[in-house]
Amino acid sequence: MNILIIGRGGREHAIACKVLQSKRVSKVFVAPGNPGMVGCEFVDINETDIDALAKFAKEKNIDLTIVGPESSLVIGIVDAFEKMGLKIFGPSKKASIIEASKQYAKELMEKHNTPTASHKTFSDYKSAKEFLDRKGVPLVIKYDGLAAGKGVVVALDIESAETALVDMFLDTKYGKGSVVIEDYLEGPEFSLMAFVDGENVYPMEIAQDHKRAYDGDLGPNTGGMGAYSPVPIISEEAIRESIEFIMKPVAKAMVDDGRSFRGILYGGLMLTKSGPMVIEFNARFGDPETEVVLPRLENDLIQVMLDIMDGVDPLLKWSDKQTLGVVLASTGYPGSYEKGFEITGLSNDSMIYHMGTSFDGDYKTNGGRVLFVVGEGDTLALAKQNAYKTVENIKCDNLFYRKDIGYQVIK
Ligand code: AMP
Ligand code: GLY
Repeated sequence: MNILIIGRGGREHAIACKVLQSKRVSKVFVAPGNPGMVGCEFVDINETDIDALAKFAKEKNIDLTIVGPESSLVIGIVDAFEKMGLKIFGPSKKASIIEASKQYAKELMEKHNTPTASHKTFSDYKSAKEFLDRKGVPLVIKYDGLAAGKGVVVALDIESAETALVDMFLDTKYGKGSVVIEDYLEGPEFSLMAFVDGENVYPMEIAQDHKRAYDGDLGPNTGGMGAYSPVPIISEEAIRESIEFIMKPVAKAMVDDGRSFRGILYGGLMLTKSGPMVIEFNARFGDPETEVVLPRLENDLIQVMLDIMDGVDPLLKWSDKQTLGVVLASTGYPGSYEKGFEITGLSNDSMIYHMGTSFDGDYKTNGGRVLFVVGEGDTLALAKQNAYKTVENIKCDNLFYRKDIGYQVIK
């Protein structure tokens, strides 16, 4: 089979590694891909250039296309491919609204009594500010639209809440969307991704991301600075509840709403005192969660996707190995940062996933999150040791990383 993977980050790199292991696959194309994706053929087409991607897939007889980023999904790449009779794994434009609109996701959950923080949506500064003055902090303020993981402010003091409202309504930083203000929840977070086809939900092993930029969960929210899988502080019972009371009912609610979901449904969940609750849904593989979860999948990923699309249970199998990964990010990320710094010490034999690199004879930094280094081991402590051993071999003048990934479970 010929496979096309859309995207260029660490997530797509991990998908590519898994797909390359498949016995069913002869060629793997990546559009546009990244310099770490050894063994793939690069296609110089942007993730959002749907017409060019579909034309390419038709010409090259691509048997299955796998979509990484939400930016392709929300503009309807799946609809466009299917219209041309091309096989593609991912949700339709209609279904990916579960990620694209926080308001839609909230309303769906409210209607179906899915456990999540209560919320209110505002379309102007004045009413949002009045609400804030009445309600006080802590509160969570979210820009409603895609903001690459940065449109959320957890406001523990009144000053940061006010700044967030000014940024989101009065500044041009975000755009013209509305703003959701919700109750502040507390508890450990975890990411539960599932292969979904309509009402059928096949959960993956869970992972935990580290959203804050700096050690001790300090600093601004990012796209994720590290992750590990499994997550021993989340009990089997909590995972079962999350599947039965969150993932399955939401998949069914999407079907009932005429937005049947096929692809990866990502639940960003929090284990609160009253049980698992939803922080957010995404319509795709998480990044960096995918890079720690897929290496533990023992099935052939292509077979799994074909089974899902045929309505067959893929009978997922997971290794007992523990994985833990560390993001190396450009100094300044998630704010502004410079690019083009040389990186040395990269090797091909460890799980080093490229998130934002370029290659011109040397590897250079080319994004906010640059590399994701994964270690494996029989215990999380060993996986952590292995990951940081590799991290220490990587040299670059403009990268930083968290030293405490996994701290909630590895003392
Ligand atoms: P989101 O983009 O919605 O996943 O939010 C990013 C991060 O903000 C989450 O991973 C949480 O750490 C935090 N967060 C979002 N919503 C809440 C909430 N209602 N209560 C507490 N923390 C939250
Ligand atoms: N790591 C969080 C996400 O993929 O949205």
